[in-house]
Amino acid sequence: MALVSIPTSTLINASLKNFCYYILQPTPPALDKLRQVIVQHILGACANASRVSTSSIVRNHSSFYVVSPAAIQRQITLWRQELPQITPYYAVKSNPDSRLLNKLHMNGVKFDCASGREIQDCEAYSGIGIAVAKDILFANPTKTESDIQLAAQRKIMETVVDSPEEVWRIAHSGWRPNIFIRLTVDDMASRSPFSLKFGAERHSWKSILGALDIAGLKLAGLSFHIGSASSDATQYRKAIELCRKFSYETKRKIDAVDIGGGFMPETFKDSATQIRSAIKDWQMNGLIPPPLRWIAEPGRFFSSVTHTLYTNIIGAKAGPGGVGWRYTLDESIYGQFSCIPFDHQRPNWVRVGGNRVERGRGFLFGRTCDSLDLIAYSETMNRLKEGDWLCFPGMGAYTMSSSSEFNGFPRPRVYYQDEGWVEPGKIEIEPGVIFPIETKSSINLSLGDIKN
Ligand SMILES: Cc1ncc(COP(=O)(O)O)c(C=O)c1O
Repeated sequence: MALVSIPTSTLINASLKNFCYYILQPTPPALDKLRQVIVQHILGACANASRVSTSSIVRNHSSFYVVSPAAIQRQITLWRQELPQITPYYAVKSNPDSRLLNKLHMNGVKFDCASGREIQDCEAYSGIGIAVAKDILFANPTKTESDIQLAAQRKIMETVVDSPEEVWRIAHSGWRPNIFIRLTVDDMASRSPFSLKFGAERHSWKSILGALDIAGLKLAGLSFHIGSASSDATQYRKAIELCRKFSYETKRKIDAVDIGGGFMPETFKDSATQIRSAIKDWQMNGLIPPPLRWIAEPGRFFSSVTHTLYTNIIGAKAGPGGVGWRYTLDESIYGQFSCIPFDHQRPNWVRVGGNRVERGRGFLFGRTCDSLDLIAYSETMNRLKEGDWLCFPGMGAYTMSSSSEFNGFPRPRVYYQDEGWVEPGKIEIEPGVIFPIETKSSINLSLGDIKN
C-alpha cells in the first residue's frame, strides 16, 4: 500500500483527518507508529499533559467519535457478572451504530426495537437476518400501521402493549405476536420519567387481559420502565413487586418479566443488587409461581460510556459587555448535544492538552445560526481558544440517534478503536457549569407515586 512509504515525521504531523483515514486501513508497522503517537497525544492530553500542540494535527478535522470495542466488551461482561439470569435486549434507540449492534449481537445480546426502521437496521447491521426475528422485541406500546405490517412480515414474535386498543389494532392486522403488557410504575426518581405517556394502570389490567383472550393472543409476560437515569435503585424492586401483585390479582401465571432500561453505569451495581434480591423474593414466595424468563432493555448502559466525542472551538470572541468569552463549538444542540434537551444529560469535557490556569465567564455555543444553540454556560469556565479541541467522554447515548443535520452540518464520523477512548469519570470536572436548555425542557412527565 502506498501510504507505507510516507516518512514517520510527516505522518506525525499529518492532520488527524488523514490519521483517521490511515488507521482505518490495514495497519502496516509505520501506521501503527502513527496511531501510537496520536493516541498518546489524545490520551496524554486528557490526562492533563501540557506539552502537546494540537493545531497542526486537527485543524482540518471536524467532530468525531472514538468508540471503544474493549469498553463495549467490558459492559457486556459487567452485565453478565451482575445479572446473569437476565437477557439484555439492547434498546437500539439509544444509538443504532452499526458496529455497536454487530458487536452486541455477536456477544449474544438481543434487540429492543421501537420502529420498523430499527428492525431493519438490526437485520442489516447485526447480520442476524430475517430467520432470527426471535432476537427482536418490538417494544413500542403504540405502533404505526406500516410498522405492524413490517413486523408481521418479518415474523417478529414478541411485542408490548399498554392498552386494549393496541391489542385490537394488532389483532385486526392479522399479526400474531405474543404480548407483554407494560405496567405503569413509580418513576418519580428518574431523570426522564415515562409514566404520563406509557403504561397500563391497575384499572386497565383486566380490560387488556380480556382483549387478549378475545383476540386469542398469548400473554408473553409483563414489562415496565422505571424511567431513565433513576436515582433510586429500589424502584426496580418495587416494579418487580408490582408484577407479582398483577399475577396474584389477575390470577395469571407470568412466564416472563421485562425489567426495561434506565441502567446508569454509575449506579448499575446497586440496581443489580435490588433486582437480584427482588427476583429471589419472588422465587422464595411459594404463593405465586415466579417467571422463568427475565429480560431487560438496556440502552445507555451499552452505548453511553463506550463513546468519546472530540470536537473543536471554531471561534472565540469577547462576551457581552466585554466580560468573558463566547465560544463556538463545531457541534450543536441540534447535533450531538441533543442529549441535553431530550435526555437531560450534562456532558462534561476536558480541553485536549489540559486545562489552562485562566478561568472566567464563558458561553459555549453550538455552530448553528440559532441563538438557542447554547450548550453550556459558566462563570468559571476554563479559558478556551480558537482551535482548541475538547474531549467529551460518555457521549454515546441519545446523541447520534436524536441528532439532526440542521443548518447543513453533518454528523460526526465514527472511529471504532480503543485508542483515544476516555473513560467518563476519569477527567477533571468543569466547576459551575450549567446547561440552560436542559433546565428549560424539564417538564413533569411522571404520574408520581403510583399506588397500583
Ligand atoms: C421502552 C424503552 N426501553 C428501553 C429504553 C432504554 O432506556 P435507557 O437507555 O435509559 O436504558 C427506553 C428509552 O427511552 C425505552 O423507551
